[in-house]
Amino acid sequence: MTLQIPFFDGRAVFREIEDRVLQAVQRVLRSGQFILGAEVLAFEQAFATLTGARFAIAVASGTDALSLSLRAAGLAAGDRVLTVPNTAPATAAAIQAVGCRPIFADVHPDTLLICPEHVEQQMQAEVRAIIPVHLYGQPAPLNHIIALAKNAGAVVIEDCSHAAGAFDHGLHAGRRGDIGCFSFYPTKPLGGMGDGGICITDSDHLAARLRMLRMYGFNEHRICMEPGFNSRLDELQAAILHERLHVLEQQQQHRQRLAERYTKGLQKTGLRIPLLRSGITHAWHQFVVRVPQRKQLMKALQQMGIGTAVHYEHSLHLMPAFAASNGGQRFPQAERAAAEVLSLPCSRHVSEADADQIVEAVITCLS
Ligand SMILES: Cc1ncc(COP(=O)(O)O)c(C=O)c1O
Repeated sequence: MTLQIPFFDGRAVFREIEDRVLQAVQRVLRSGQFILGAEVLAFEQAFATLTGARFAIAVASGTDALSLSLRAAGLAAGDRVLTVPNTAPATAAAIQAVGCRPIFADVHPDTLLICPEHVEQQMQAEVRAIIPVHLYGQPAPLNHIIALAKNAGAVVIEDCSHAAGAFDHGLHAGRRGDIGCFSFYPTKPLGGMGDGGICITDSDHLAARLRMLRMYGFNEHRICMEPGFNSRLDELQAAILHERLHVLEQQQQHRQRLAERYTKGLQKTGLRIPLLRSGITHAWHQFVVRVPQRKQLMKALQQMGIGTAVHYEHSLHLMPAFAASNGGQRFPQAERAAAEVLSLPCSRHVSEADADQIVEAVITCLS
């Protein structure tokens, strides 16, 4: 069988809301206001409504959202920040961008989410912030982690880059920690047509600091109060993201149906699928299976016209940029996951019939 199912199709994302995007772009261009105007404000308000947060502060990327959050929370150069090794390198790069030191905690073998027991062990290292990652769109378990952070006087900054539209017992991802950070990289559940990010918080203090830091450290009189960044979401991106926000839930439901088909269809293959926590709504940013013969399966699926991807192929603690702060510690669960995880196509351009064909193709390849 030869199919034509790419892993991701940016054109399909655009096609779905083409008229509305073109109108939004025209509206912005005709307004003559391109930076921090009515569109950003309206999008921030809409995002705050979606998540239930008191404040939403839009920034230039998900990486910046994390870096600015660490600075807003008072972290300084040399402070240790604990995160997971099986995340996008951006999580650790954001920590280093503000001079902090990324250290790691291993993940649970069934969910691939941060393991609270391992966080507890790692807290001995004077951790000033914890960044749990809601990997693939599944909210990570935070109860114990928040208690540990409180005890240690550390902040919790949730990396929600995969988790727009994800809920844990009715609470949107990003609402449990001090700040929740989202990426609008095009492939994300709420993807822009360019770069973007946003921070959510219920704290007046943190919201004010984030607004100040995203624009040179300006106070209301445009006096720089401390070293700041230039990290603003632009008006065009905000207008486009606002259009995408209208279809977020509908697209999440579509991915949910794909995930159900994959889960049911792949049950007998022996492939391992990350376990779902109870009480959560998964954003299904990625549908990930674990397969020891990953390379062969990827190649065989490619030959059948099915695109796949790996999130993530290398554990961060083994990368030269992050190895130094980690003192040679190993994280067996994350390392094993890195060798086995495989993401199947799971976005808007994939139909339910496509998902069935992908299941069939996987079964054929494995038999
Ligand atoms: C888990 C995670 N954190 C942070 C980021 C950084 O986001 P951005 O690419 O918008 O800077 C990404 C995006 O790749 C991500 O997947």
